[in-house]
Amino acid sequence: MFFQIRQVSKISLSISVDIQKRLTKQLITADLDELNKLSSGNHVSRIMNDVILIRDGFERAINNLVRDTFTVLALLFYLIWLDWLLSILVIIIYPLALRPVVRIGKKQNIIATSLQEQMEIVTSSLTEMIQGIRMVKSYNLEDMEINRSESVLNSLFSKMFSLVIGRAKILPILEILGGVAAASVIGFASYRVSTGELSPGSVVGYVTALLMIAQPARALGTFNTVFQEALSALARIYTQLKIIPKVISLSSAPNLKIVKNKPPKINFKAVSFAYNKKNIVLDHINFDVNSGTKVALVGQSGSGKSTIINLISRFYDPLNGQILINEQNIKDISLNSLRNNISLVSQETIIYNKSFMDNIRFGNLDASDHKIKKAAMNADIHDLIVNSLDGYNTIVGESGNTLSGGQKQRLSIARAILKDAPILLLDEATSSLDPETENEINKTLEKLTKNKTTITIAHKLSTIINSDQIILLSKGKIVNAGSHKELMKSSDHYKKLFQAGT
Ligand SMILES: Nc1ncnc2c1ncn2[C@@H]1O[C@H](COP(=O)(O)OP(=O)(O)O)[C@@H](O)[C@H]1O
Ligand SMILES: [Mg+2]
Repeated sequence: MFFQIRQVSKISLSISVDIQKRLTKQLITADLDELNKLSSGNHVSRIMNDVILIRDGFERAINNLVRDTFTVLALLFYLIWLDWLLSILVIIIYPLALRPVVRIGKKQNIIATSLQEQMEIVTSSLTEMIQGIRMVKSYNLEDMEINRSESVLNSLFSKMFSLVIGRAKILPILEILGGVAAASVIGFASYRVSTGELSPGSVVGYVTALLMIAQPARALGTFNTVFQEALSALARIYTQLKIIPKVISLSSAPNLKIVKNKPPKINFKAVSFAYNKKNIVLDHINFDVNSGTKVALVGQSGSGKSTIINLISRFYDPLNGQILINEQNIKDISLNSLRNNISLVSQETIIYNKSFMDNIRFGNLDASDHKIKKAAMNADIHDLIVNSLDGYNTIVGESGNTLSGGQKQRLSIARAILKDAPILLLDEATSSLDPETENEINKTLEKLTKNKTTITIAHKLSTIINSDQIILLSKGKIVNAGSHKELMKSSDHYKKLFQAGT
């Protein structure tokens, strides 16, 4: 038993870890719109809970299906060999038990699916609650949240209970049929002993074998339900693994051609895009960013500025049109080389629960500590770091929640400075800084943009008046483009935006 348990567990654990690895890999390489279909709690639940069901099913399959099937078959042959007439009786009664067992098994599959869905709801509402705890407290929503979590946990209870009930129904059915079979055999055998066809000794042998069959037969009956639960989990995981990402590059795709000391140029040619087919977010966008120049995107929120930056990084692919970098369609070059050549500072800052050092190092995993410190100095965050408890080794907390919004932003700017890519995309990179720090950082960014091709989205138009070209977007269309001076003359829209923004 020790060796069996050890070996079976080793195999089943390796299988489940392997599935978890594949699911994680799938998750990391999935398209953003695919990821956004489910909440993070749902994804976590799939990776953690579904796999447990599969592991249970596999262990039962090995332990029951193999060992118990052989035991039942062997005993059945023994029974037939002892007395075939009595055995016909047994063989007729036992299959009767199979019908309810199969029916309950099918129902278990459905219940297991809805239980897993409930599990996902619980995980996602718990993560949401913990992430939103400040909002909950400040709006006095504790009661609402307690009620919400109680109600999802209550549903979890009732679904788990139905699953247990299903499993529990199987046992009495099997017991009753086992009893009926044993009673009929004993009755029929006694009759044949009285007529002298059978010796009492062989009846005892027969009944003993019949009782021995009961346990493995019962295990096989309950195995079906566990197996059905595992199948439902497996089905979900298979659909997940079958999804092929659309934003990919072939392994034979060439690298982005970069000329040394000549930052690349970017051209948008009639680019249209929609996150969902209904709402066009970008409508025939044409513009050119010449080598080493600075282009600013302005427009009301929701006009499509961040989307343009998402498309350059190929977080999504355009519906129509082309984006060229150095005359190469970005769809045709390797994703790796594309993203290697882009430094992106986005609206939301992503900070890991790691040290300052590690968080900056994401910009360039090979960077020396010295270079990281230099980047931190340029991003104006070095002083804060050295004054922290453990200096550069201070852990910043989950999502950097020990830092202020401005500090997080400076940390992500340090990351981009460290990466030092020839294309710089700044999406409201300084929006959570106070005016004084913003001026400081803008001076740094000014230095950083030297000899780089830059696209900036600024929340304050005063910071982008020096751009080579300003593109004014409205509802996914370019309404005007030109220098600040030109636009102040030619565009009332821009003038209004500029006066409102400063
Ligand atoms: N992931 C998304 N899924 C669906 N719609 C989105 C998504 N991201 C942005 N949008 C929509 O696309 C439009 C443009 O958004 P965005 O480019 O972020 O605007 P902004 O100019 O403020 O940066 C908005 O109407 C927004 O609601
Ligand atoms: Mg935006």
